[in-house]
Amino acid sequence: MGRLVKEKAILTPTGSSVGETLVWATALLRSASVDTARLDAECLLASLLGCERLDLYAATEERLPLPVLEGYRALVARRQAREPLAYLTGTKEFWSLSLRVTPAVLIPRPETEILVETALTRLGMLQGPVIVDIGSGAGAIAVAIAKTRPDARIFATEISGRALEVARENARDHGVLGQISFLQGDLLEPLWGAGLAGQCDLIVSNPPYVATSDLVALPPEVHYEPVIALDGGPDGLAFHRRISEGARALLRSGGWVALEMAPGQGHSLVKLLCDRGAFTDVAITRDLTGRERVAIARFTDSGSADPPAQRGFTVEKAV
Ligand SMILES: C[S@@+](CC[C@H](N)C(=O)[O-])C[C@H]1O[C@@H](n2cnc3c(N)ncnc32)[C@H](O)[C@@H]1O
Repeated sequence: MGRLVKEKAILTPTGSSVGETLVWATALLRSASVDTARLDAECLLASLLGCERLDLYAATEERLPLPVLEGYRALVARRQAREPLAYLTGTKEFWSLSLRVTPAVLIPRPETEILVETALTRLGMLQGPVIVDIGSGAGAIAVAIAKTRPDARIFATEISGRALEVARENARDHGVLGQISFLQGDLLEPLWGAGLAGQCDLIVSNPPYVATSDLVALPPEVHYEPVIALDGGPDGLAFHRRISEGARALLRSGGWVALEMAPGQGHSLVKLLCDRGAFTDVAITRDLTGRERVAIARFTDSGSADPPAQRGFTVEKAV
């Protein structure tokens, strides 16, 4: 980083040192109740300087050029107003991949990795699987699956054109654009003309799942994210209902549907899937803190409406 700072310092006056600046920013972020104040202060400075966060430790005595300090002050002020860190740095790590994010997309969450992992486990060694990702956002799920399963053919739908642009960029950045068809439209609707009826091995989705009345109580950062990515209707399950309904026409017999949910929605979601009478082997995956995160179920043409206990309903823990 020393070289970076020096290059920016040429012909410009310098101000505080890296160390002093980080102490100042950390205090400001703490005063705004940012839990990860020091970490965020470091991430913002590293992002601005185009270096790694650890490089800052080797440069604590270096003085920052005034233009850099001004840019940094502006970023810290935005973080102080609780704008999400990922929107300020423009990136978020998911499935060990660095993804671009903009305010047009939900910031990919670590719990969604449980969804990807659960779904991939069910696919097993099946060759050339056809996979659908509904509500692709930044493309986190589709890109993660494409990177892990180069033999998969993926269709990703999304209602927001601006989100789709971000998803396409992420797929391009990670070399999997050719594996994924990005389609704009309402849930499964763009797929009806794609000749996929009865052809899909897996439908995966992290749909909006916050109950409308709970939106107002979300942490300040979440209010910067698109409401269409969050609002799941009166009970938070409006999209799960529509997806599980439509999935039956797309899945081959034995194919899987995997849906992320909010903790506490498991019972209703299992009931919803079983009520359809077409899904069996319904299971819930929990995160490491024991909270319900994912429901997965197998589509069978001859499914009956047995209650969950008779259908081998199981609870799994993420590893
Ligand atoms: C919870 S976000 C998930 C984004 C991404 N899959 C992820 O896991 O990070 C839900 C996504 O569904 C999209 N969405 C909302 N309503 C939709 C609809 N009717 N049809 C398709 N996508 C929709 C939102 O724009 C948003 O990108």
